[in-house]
Amino acid sequence: MKNKLLLLILILIVNILLACGGDGKAISDSEAKKSDVLVIGFVQVGAESAWRMANTESFKEAFDFKQRYDFRFFDSQNNPTLQQTAVYDFIAQEVDYIILAPIEEYGWDEILAEARDAGIPVILTDRMIETDDDSLFVTWVGGDFLKEGLDAIKWLENYLISIGRDNKPLNVFHMQGTIGSSPQLGRTEGISTGIANNENLILKAQETGDFTIAKGQEVMEQWLRNYPLSKIDILIAENDDMAFGAIRAMQAFGIKPGEDIIIISFDAGKEAVQAVADGLINCTIESNPIHGRRVRQIVEFLDAGAILGKRSYVNNGMFFDINNAADEVINRF
Ligand code: AHR
Repeated sequence: MKNKLLLLILILIVNILLACGGDGKAISDSEAKKSDVLVIGFVQVGAESAWRMANTESFKEAFDFKQRYDFRFFDSQNNPTLQQTAVYDFIAQEVDYIILAPIEEYGWDEILAEARDAGIPVILTDRMIETDDDSLFVTWVGGDFLKEGLDAIKWLENYLISIGRDNKPLNVFHMQGTIGSSPQLGRTEGISTGIANNENLILKAQETGDFTIAKGQEVMEQWLRNYPLSKIDILIAENDDMAFGAIRAMQAFGIKPGEDIIIISFDAGKEAVQAVADGLINCTIESNPIHGRRVRQIVEFLDAGAILGKRSYVNNGMFFDINNAADEVINRF
């Protein structure tokens, strides 16, 4: 009983450390000498967005310590089949740890069972998998996407009150991320719930822009061709990049983004926060991409024999609008 309690306390402390940012300091020489070089296989989603680039950079930086890590990076180019092949490949290479940011939540049971049976711990980062079998991964760390979606609608409702538009029906155009990915599933659920609970918000159109500028632009162009401007009140894009694509489309149609159409996005990268300060985006919701050091800390904990909780959420919760954007640009990724 006592041992169980101690174990629970250890898990709790580790999870608090991870959630708080786990911004581990550089690893000291003595720490590095404790064990051999660890072979780490990181299977990344792709390079679809500013968020992803910052995320990749944070991993490369965190594991840039040759005496301790042999860090092997794979860019899945947003291709789920390619991503699964990469995981098989790392299993074949007998790496010490696999770090996986799954493109989609589905279809992981078989392959991750192989990793588990080969004795390779799988750390999930950013995105989750859908499974009934928690033994397929040792731990996951990432953002609370459902909360982000709900927060976006809360911000919108307050904003509409502040500009006196809360009593009229307003059409919402909802641009989703990669279908089946955790941020899409969570944010869509939060946004849909928030809209359903507000009788003045009408979901007019919903389509994926795949988290990219190009697809965001394409989808917005299509909407602008199919609907008159008077019917498009609000755009909610599930990341900054799609919002940038949509802004390009609006500008090409002679529409003033942020003025003629209210725009909300997610991630809150530097460029997007600057766009808020410039009045092009009305609000961007924070999603922190700097997971590299957090995950490195997880590897070190696991290597020291710690047992971690299955899920730890990164502390997000900020949003950037005209009231704080100009001051915050400097602090963003
Ligand atoms: O999984 C995180 C999401 O993926 C980010 O919001 C998006 O920009 C990225 O591509």
